[in-house]
Amino acid sequence: MTEQKKEFRRLGLFSSGGDAPGMNAAIRAVVRTSSFYGLHIYGIYRGFEGMIDGQIERLDKGHVANIIQRGGTVLKTARSERFRTPEGRKAAYDSLMVHDIDGLVAIGGNGTFTGAKIFYEEYGIPIIGVPGTIDNDLYGTDYTIGFDTAVNTAIEAVDKIRDTAEAHNRLFFVEVMGRDTGYIALNTGIGSGAGAILIPESKVDVEELIKHLEKTAKRQKLFSLVIVAEGNENGNAQTLANEIKSRWPEYDPKVTIIGHMQRGGAPSALDRLIASRMGYKAVEALLAGHYNQMVGIQNNEIVLVPFDDAIHKTKSIDQDLLRMAEILSL
Ligand code: F6P
Repeated sequence: MTEQKKEFRRLGLFSSGGDAPGMNAAIRAVVRTSSFYGLHIYGIYRGFEGMIDGQIERLDKGHVANIIQRGGTVLKTARSERFRTPEGRKAAYDSLMVHDIDGLVAIGGNGTFTGAKIFYEEYGIPIIGVPGTIDNDLYGTDYTIGFDTAVNTAIEAVDKIRDTAEAHNRLFFVEVMGRDTGYIALNTGIGSGAGAILIPESKVDVEELIKHLEKTAKRQKLFSLVIVAEGNENGNAQTLANEIKSRWPEYDPKVTIIGHMQRGGAPSALDRLIASRMGYKAVEALLAGHYNQMVGIQNNEIVLVPFDDAIHKTKSIDQDLLRMAEILSL
């Protein structure tokens, strides 16, 4: 949405929701671009929680030195129940007014942009979003910040599991993150040469899975790696392993949950690059009068996507990638 262009003087910046490697690179880009344009920039700590509690401080270029390579977020983050209430949002608005903040940059995922959109509608403070979540589940952007690093971390872990799986001829279920989506699982599965990939977007029943594993066993590949997205429809990795063991006692499946390790660590080159490009564009877009939108990347071009689309439209999994993964695993 392009509104009437407004003169900005003081921007607020925060990260919210689950942290993602590369958020710091985005923070650095927003602070330095704002400073280039002579804007005062305020860091809001712990996302909407810190906005409600008034945890706000002025940042300058020096605050963001030496952070581009660090995981986590120097602004901290939180998931806020209080911001879901009108009272919480009123308190947040009052805190922003203490510093005369007249524009906001929000780094986060679906929940963050949902809150940002409501806040914009209620209080009219121009706001722009930068997609930061390892899940890569936002419509309108090929990549979210943190996804590439999380997939690299998961692949590194699966490579190690493969060694022991092969040595013992064992079946492993490896669970990766992705609350309602299978992007991390799909890319990890393809990148690690997994025997099967189970994601929420595609239902596979356990009988079929066993048939598939038996097919691969026929060619002397006795061990198997199955990558399971945590939000998988047939159950999580442990549930599946239990079911297989109870019905086919000849299998002794092992389970590894990679968990929050996927959220940490130094951001990959791709994440640093897209975070820098998105952070820079966020400030430029605000100055050009584009509000209530998310910065995205499509075919390596930076684009703007209305919050409504980013939040409500579904980014579909590439079915051909799923098919390819199955063919390559046989
Ligand atoms: O949204 C990112 C994510 O890591 C999801 O993949 C996962 O389901 C969720 O956050 C875990 O959240 P928390 O760390 O708050 O338990």
